[in-house]
Amino acid sequence: MMIASPWRADFPAIAALQRQDQTYLDNAATTQKPQALLDALTHYYANGAANVHRAQHLPGAHATQAFEDSRGKVAQWLNAGTDGQIIFTHGATSALNLLAYGLEHQFNPGDEIVISALEHHANLLPWQQMALRRDLELIVLPLDADGLIDLEAAASLIGPRTRLLAVSQLSNVLGAWQPLPALLTMARTHDALTVVDGAQGVVHGRHDVQALDCDFYVCSSHKLYGPDGLGVLYGRNEALRQLRHWQFGGEMVQNADYQHASFRPAPLGFEAGTPPIASVIGLGATLDYLNGLDQRAVDAHEAALHAYLLHGLHARKGIRLLGKPQVALASFVVEGVHNSDVAHLLTEQGIAVRAGHHCAMPLLKSFGLPGAIRVSLALYNDSEDLERFFTALDQALELLR
Ligand code: ALA
Repeated sequence: MMIASPWRADFPAIAALQRQDQTYLDNAATTQKPQALLDALTHYYANGAANVHRAQHLPGAHATQAFEDSRGKVAQWLNAGTDGQIIFTHGATSALNLLAYGLEHQFNPGDEIVISALEHHANLLPWQQMALRRDLELIVLPLDADGLIDLEAAASLIGPRTRLLAVSQLSNVLGAWQPLPALLTMARTHDALTVVDGAQGVVHGRHDVQALDCDFYVCSSHKLYGPDGLGVLYGRNEALRQLRHWQFGGEMVQNADYQHASFRPAPLGFEAGTPPIASVIGLGATLDYLNGLDQRAVDAHEAALHAYLLHGLHARKGIRLLGKPQVALASFVVEGVHNSDVAHLLTEQGIAVRAGHHCAMPLLKSFGLPGAIRVSLALYNDSEDLERFFTALDQALELLR
C-alpha cells in the first residue's frame, strides 16, 4: 500500500535530501521548511531589513507591521484570544526558562512544583533549578504502562501545596497524548498555575489554548515547519500579569534613568533586545501555508503513516516499543543490540533518525535503557521513506544479530 504525501513538493529540502540519498525521519527534532517560508525570508531580506518597534522610517514600519501580523497569526493558530497574549522568545526552551525565572518570586520554601516522568530536559531542568534556588519540592508524576501520566497517582500527588504543574502535551519519546484536561483540572482545584509544553503537540492537529484552559502554553517554531531561533509563549492575561521581567534591554522598558527603570507589560516587556525578526515573519508565512492545507487530510495522512510505521515495527522480531505511541513517532530498542550500533548502520544507509536519550535522560533511565531509536514523521513523509527505513533496519539487524 502506497501512502503518498500531496505536500511533499512544497518542501524543497526533501528533494535535495533525496539527491544526497538521505531519508529524513527525525522530524521531532526539527522539520524541513515549506517554499512559502523560504520566499518570505528572501522577501524580507531582499527588500530591506529593519528593526521593529523603534524606527520612524518606512522600512522599520514595514518590518514592524509584518512582525505584528505574525503575532496575530500565531494568536489565531492557537486561538489565544488576543495578539498581546503571544510573547516571542528564542525557542521553547527559552520560553520555559522565562517562566521559571518570571514566576519564581511567587513560590516559598516547601511549595511543590509538579512535573511528570516523561518531560524532556527543557521542561525539567528549568523547574529543577528553580526548585533548588527557592528550596521548593519537585514532584514527579509517574507514568502508567502505556506511557501516560498516571491519573490515580496524580490525584494523590497534586494537592494544596502544589503551586505549579508543568507537563508536556505529547511526549517526544513516547508519542502519546497526555491526559491534560484531567491533570489541569486537578491543578486548578488547588489554585496552582498550569504550564503546557506544546513543543511536540502543536505540530499534530490543531490546538486551542483557551479550550485547554492552561495558564501558559509553550511551543517552538522550528518543529512546526517554521524557522529556528524562535519560540512562542502564550499566557492567560491574569497569568501574564504574574510574570516578573527576567531579561532586560532595549524595547522592554517604559522609563529608565541611571538608578531605576520601569518595564512594559507583555508581550513587549518580555522581548528584550532585537527579536528574531525574520524568523517571526517567516513563522507567519509558514502558518499561512499550513492554514491553506486541508487539516483533516493532513491528520489522516499522518495517522496512516504512523499506523504503517507501527505495523512494520511490530512485524519484526525482537523490537521493543517504548510505551504505546499514538501519533507522530515511535521509539524502540532491539533486544540484545545497542541502539547506537543500529543508529550507526542506519546512518550509513542514509536514514536520518534520532538515537540516544532524546533529551529525556531520566525517562530513558526509568526504562533501564541508555537510549533508543526514534523514527518521527512529518506531513511530507510517505510510505517509501518508511520502506527505505525498514530495508535499512533489516540489513542492520542482519549484521548485528
Ligand atoms: N526535543 C527535541 C527532540 O526530541 C530536540 O529531538
